[in-house]
Amino acid sequence: MSTAASAAPYDPAAVARVIAERGHLDGALMPVLHGVQEALGWVPAEAVGQIAQALDLSRAEVHGVISYYHHFRQQPAHGPVLQVCRAESCRSVGGEQLLQHAQRHHHGCHVEAVYCLGLCAQSPAVMLQGQPHARVTAEKLDRLVAEAGAHA
Ligand code: FES
Repeated sequence: MSTAASAAPYDPAAVARVIAERGHLDGALMPVLHGVQEALGWVPAEAVGQIAQALDLSRAEVHGVISYYHHFRQQPAHGPVLQVCRAESCRSVGGEQLLQHAQRHHHGCHVEAVYCLGLCAQSPAVMLQGQPHARVTAEKLDRLVAEAGAHA
């Protein structure tokens, strides 16, 4: 999973490129939505009609999927994206406290809770600007954010 370093405005040509690359896949909606978020950093409301038309779906169907999956951002991120895992393995070793720490101390980041980053064996895990980090403590998180130039 990668994420645009910063949010870009609605760009019909970028959305069209994603549709051209992924629109032929089985169950194309999810890959297309992921691709749009990777390209723009979010899924603008203006893209919904474009995607619906290209995939022969209703706008309500596309909007329903975007709303259901918290992964999809309907607003641009307000800073560097910091995702903190709160799924079981990470919760059991302090993931929830790490999330609270991030929410309290890293206001310059766009902090999101996510459910499993695939690093369960090295919990707790975070993703900062698309880069995964394992066995993260509050101190390590502060250092990572500082290194990323995302002081809060
Ligand atoms: S539970 Fe956190 S990375 Fe899987």
